[in-house]
Amino acid sequence: MRDPVSVPSIAARKRSQGAPAIVMVTAYDAPFARIADDAGVDIILVGDSVGNTVLGYDNSLAVDVGQMAHHVGAVARAKPGALIVGDLPWLSYHVDSADTVRNAATLVRAGAGAVKLEGGRRRIPAVRAILDAEIPVMGHLGLTPQSLHAMGGYAVQGKDVEAARALELDARALAEAGCFAIVLEGVPDLVASRVTAAVDVPTIGIGAGPGCDGQVLVLHDLLGLSSGRVPKFVRCYSDLATVAREAIAGFAADVRSGDYPSSDETYHASPELRRELEGGAPQ
Ligand code: KIV
Repeated sequence: MRDPVSVPSIAARKRSQGAPAIVMVTAYDAPFARIADDAGVDIILVGDSVGNTVLGYDNSLAVDVGQMAHHVGAVARAKPGALIVGDLPWLSYHVDSADTVRNAATLVRAGAGAVKLEGGRRRIPAVRAILDAEIPVMGHLGLTPQSLHAMGGYAVQGKDVEAARALELDARALAEAGCFAIVLEGVPDLVASRVTAAVDVPTIGIGAGPGCDGQVLVLHDLLGLSSGRVPKFVRCYSDLATVAREAIAGFAADVRSGDYPSSDETYHASPELRRELEGGAPQ
């Protein structure tokens, strides 16, 4: 078993200082948490993307703290060495400080070692309140899916000078407030590289080019388990949907042909039981 990955060890992982790139994937249940951990990822993000990847919603806005705690708990019970980051869902930290801290604590009690929230300077009071309760915070800037309606869709952010500069100010503010890492989602490569150079905590990119200190992908996207079109930054490393479909179709064919279950796959009645049930007088 490897040593558990700690928040301070992640906070120190700047590639500009020779550190290896951070690898983060999402997971929402114990089997995939175990698989991701065995594969050696640094961080398992229990993302609110559970809403669209697993729970069948169109987006992540339907997910609440109770659902997130349910999935964080499942991942934690796999006892991964990877750091578990629990995503604070929409409306769990846009509330007053006491409720914000209580919601973050719910994810920690479920097994998270840190929480993630979306947004920049406007979220600094929430970041400070959570840090004040000794809970590490990961930031998330750029294309922030919880701002779906405010952004008018899932569009690349930071595309003009003003927006790029605002993003850099947001990142500096999050780092200065004490976030130990910042996710940069859906921003041009140059903007991500400039933000990465501007802050002394690592950036973890998703659709943000190669200049970040690490990369994250949604597990179901990289395994080929997502339905519909995946964004251009996704690299599919497998086609598990096809593997699963073929396995289930094989089971169905064997059941229908009578090939399953075989004698070896059956618990046989003992000769005594057979004699009594089939040879004895009916009760
Ligand atoms: O919820 C999620 O999966 C995320 C990642 C895309 C970073 O926030």
